[in-house]
Amino acid sequence: MYRTLEYAAFGRKLENQRCEFLKDASGAKRALLLGDGDGRFLLELTKCNEEVHIDSVEASAKMIERAQACLRKANLADPARIRFHHGNALLGEWPNKGYDLVVTHFFLDCFSTAEVDRLIPSIRRVCAPGAKWLLAEFQQPEAGWRRWHACCWLFAMYCFFRITTGLEPLGLPEYRTALSKAGFSLKGKKLRMGQLICSELWTLPGRDAEGPYGSAD
Ligand SMILES: C[S@@+](CC[C@H](N)C(=O)[O-])C[C@H]1O[C@@H](n2cnc3c(N)ncnc32)[C@H](O)[C@@H]1O
Repeated sequence: MYRTLEYAAFGRKLENQRCEFLKDASGAKRALLLGDGDGRFLLELTKCNEEVHIDSVEASAKMIERAQACLRKANLADPARIRFHHGNALLGEWPNKGYDLVVTHFFLDCFSTAEVDRLIPSIRRVCAPGAKWLLAEFQQPEAGWRRWHACCWLFAMYCFFRITTGLEPLGLPEYRTALSKAGFSLKGKKLRMGQLICSELWTLPGRDAEGPYGSAD
């Protein structure tokens, strides 16, 4: 249902949003994907980067099955470089460390600001210097018709996911402050649909720089 509903409501817009900064992931060696869902972005990543080793942490066994089916269909040359981990990202039990790429598409909005405030520093600890973080999220513009347009969409979506999945948060978390505090800087941003959806590229300083956690790795 998830994919069908997405296409019915947004057409290809969310797909474009997920892939907005895909080319920035082309040099990554080790990626951590969180809540990747049905594997559409995962597949695009493996196509644009044939070297990257990927750990995908996903709470839904059904989504993992879908993603695995998606990869089987694509008949990848080296499927062993992709590992799925069925688990809860909030526990902070990461399969590896030294990630130079983190991807969270439409994932942080499953959590409250307090949860995101714990989650982001925990991920930061397993990032390599210079790591990139790609994300796509819904957002609420500050004012004007765009704000009301976004309010209507967000209200409808939170109600729907609350009924169908038991999602607890009732609004978008403030994740940008946590990313900045963890030492990431916003390098790119693209807005679509009256500023309702955004893609962002955040990066950590490289090996020579010192962040709030000292140099990583
Ligand atoms: C809104 S969907 C987004 C899926 C996909 N990233 C996309 O762009 O369409 C959120 C995904 O995060 C997963 N998820 C939610 N809470 C999670 C958690 N605590 N740990 C890991 N995955 C989680 C859900 O199972 C779902 O696949």
